[in-house]
Amino acid sequence: MIGDHYESFLNIDKCIQLMDDKRFQVVSSWEQIKNYGVDPLGRLLFKNIFTIAPEALELFSFKEVSDLESSPELKAHYTRVIESLN
Ligand code: HEM
Repeated sequence: MIGDHYESFLNIDKCIQLMDDKRFQVVSSWEQIKNYGVDPLGRLLFKNIFTIAPEALELFSFKEVSDLESSPELKAHYTRVIESLN
């Protein structure tokens, strides 16, 4: 019985360790790329999102624009996204 509780404490420590590792990976990978600038990062981020999940495009009011990559609406949004990550 006591052993069970001890085991769950060990698991909590392990969970916290895993969360810290993941947080470190996210923060350090962002540190490595953030200086590429808002435009390249924003375009690449949303290009990847729309490639992985094309249905995400349907959420945007400007989904019909002819040249999405250079649309000012997409640019306004990814600028917010990247700046908030920074
Ligand atoms: C840190 C991340 C993000 C921030 C800070 C953010 C911020 C915002 C803000 C402030 C708006 C309102 C824009 C306006 O009405 O002027 C907005 C709209 C929107 N966001 Fe985000 N966003 C983020 C990430 C994302 C992601 C990853 C997606 C999905 C792929 C997304 C999808 C949308 C959509 C569909 C709208 C409505 C745009 C429209 O149709 O005009 N956002 N976002």
